Amino acid sequence: CAAMKVTLLPGDGIGPEIMDVAVDVLNTIATKHDLTFDFTTKLVGGAAIDEHGCPLPDDTLDSCKASDSVLLAAIGGYKWDSLPSNDKPERGLLNLRAGLGAFANLRPAVVLPQLADASTLKPEVVSGVDIMVVRELTGGIYFGEPKGFGVSDKPGMEGSRTGYNTDVYCEKEIERLARVGYAVARKRGSKVCSVDKANVLEVSQLWREVAQRVRDEEFPDIELSHMYVDNAAMQLVRNPKQFDTMITGNIFGDILSDEASMICGSIGMLPSASIGEDGPGLFEPIHGSAPDIAGQDISNPLAMILSAAMMLRYDLNQEAAADQIEKAVEKTLDDGYRTVDLMSEGMKQVGCREMGDMVLERL
Ligand code: IPM
Ligand code: MN
Repeated sequence: CAAMKVTLLPGDGIGPEIMDVAVDVLNTIATKHDLTFDFTTKLVGGAAIDEHGCPLPDDTLDSCKASDSVLLAAIGGYKWDSLPSNDKPERGLLNLRAGLGAFANLRPAVVLPQLADASTLKPEVVSGVDIMVVRELTGGIYFGEPKGFGVSDKPGMEGSRTGYNTDVYCEKEIERLARVGYAVARKRGSKVCSVDKANVLEVSQLWREVAQRVRDEEFPDIELSHMYVDNAAMQLVRNPKQFDTMITGNIFGDILSDEASMICGSIGMLPSASIGEDGPGLFEPIHGSAPDIAGQDISNPLAMILSAAMMLRYDLNQEAAADQIEKAVEKTLDDGYRTVDLMSEGMKQVGCREMGDMVLERL
């Protein structure tokens, strides 16, 4: 069958080392399922700033748009931290998400039985957790205008420097995110918790109203509840098993998905899929570039590998190949291999490359 065009974006920090492993996994799965990948590697983030002076060169975005799918590792690092926010590596990622129209970010937080004791929470609290966080990705406070720096005119604070952003959503943005969330939930437990801060924020009042209306009009079979984000953060560690699918805005989803990752043992385990109405999706681990451990071959490549599996499932229609990768990851964990972030007594500690090799052997 025709080659599947995939743009690879290794990015910064541990990005290149985990991307290498994921590409090996994809190449191996290709031979087993008679698939052909046409990979193109491009620069994004700090690597693109160093080479081209901007975090998302046109050449990179064009390649992504012309692909069937995009696989990204991680971006950012100390070196670029003092740049103005519009020139930072992170801006490259935000512009890429927006440029691809990838407004819905699916972040599954699943506690694998092998890792129930890797979490800092009690095994009986976390075992069996299977949550899908559906995060809005191209709106909210990450993109709202006005934003910038200025000078305060608040009584008593006059003349003090300010920094400000705007949290804004329109009905259409909420509707389309809610639809993705409810459709995803239908394939799971049909139970959705919409997270907002409607007791304080107008943007959240609209969120709640629209989420409810879309459910009532189009998804009456979905059991919908609403929760304030502070309570949701607390409930996630108190009793995470109460959640099936969560829908929420950009910044709340960013924060809650990091929290959910620790229920699963390590942020190094969680993949994500960012999808839009059409065009290629963007697949990336939820973790960052971990510049403190880059180049030491101790990073955990599993979230990256699992992101490649999500790409096969959601964008490339290769369910069987995706399943096989996920099974190989579980088998590797069954056999006791752990990167340092997952290490516990009696397990075998391996580096990034070796972890990848163990997965490859089990494919
Ligand atoms: C994530 C990251 C990004 C975000 C950063 C790197 C822009 O934290 O994917 O969760 O905040 O969305
Ligand atoms: Mn994040």
